[in-house]
Amino acid sequence: MKKTTLLIAGMLALSMGMLQAADAKTNWAAKCAGCHGKEGKGDTKLGIKMGARDYSDPKVQDSIKDEAIIKALKEGVKKDGKQIMKAYTDTFTENEIKELAAFMRTLKKK
Ligand code: HEC
Repeated sequence: MKKTTLLIAGMLALSMGMLQAADAKTNWAAKCAGCHGKEGKGDTKLGIKMGARDYSDPKVQDSIKDEAIIKALKEGVKKDGKQIMKAYTDTFTENEIKELAAFMRTLKKK
């Protein structure tokens, strides 16, 4: 009996984790991939034009702190005084922002 309960709890936790990952992935594809690319390479027309970096590159990933990802999503990104990425506080909840930040780390390849 106890074993079954544990197993069910484990399976629930696992499927919830998977759902969360899918959520951030969906949000990324819908709201971020236009510039950053589905795989985070910044290789879309808009991304290239705006200078989006390659987030699959470990060096680029290592140069971005967790706080910077959260900050970018909450305040947007400015370059030379120009807003190059908007803030997403109207679009996402605190939790979705955190999940997106975690998702971005999975874009790191190699
Ligand atoms: C209109 C184009 C555009 C969209 C849409 C966009 N970004 Fe960006 N973003 C940029 C540009 C340009 C930069 C600056 C260059 C870079 O770091 O790639 C940037 C930078 C970032 C950074 C790095 C901040 C830092 O301090 O280095 C993060 C994190 C980020 N974006 C996450 C996201 C997420 C998550 C989404 C979707 C919710 C998103 N972006 C949507 C254009 C965009």
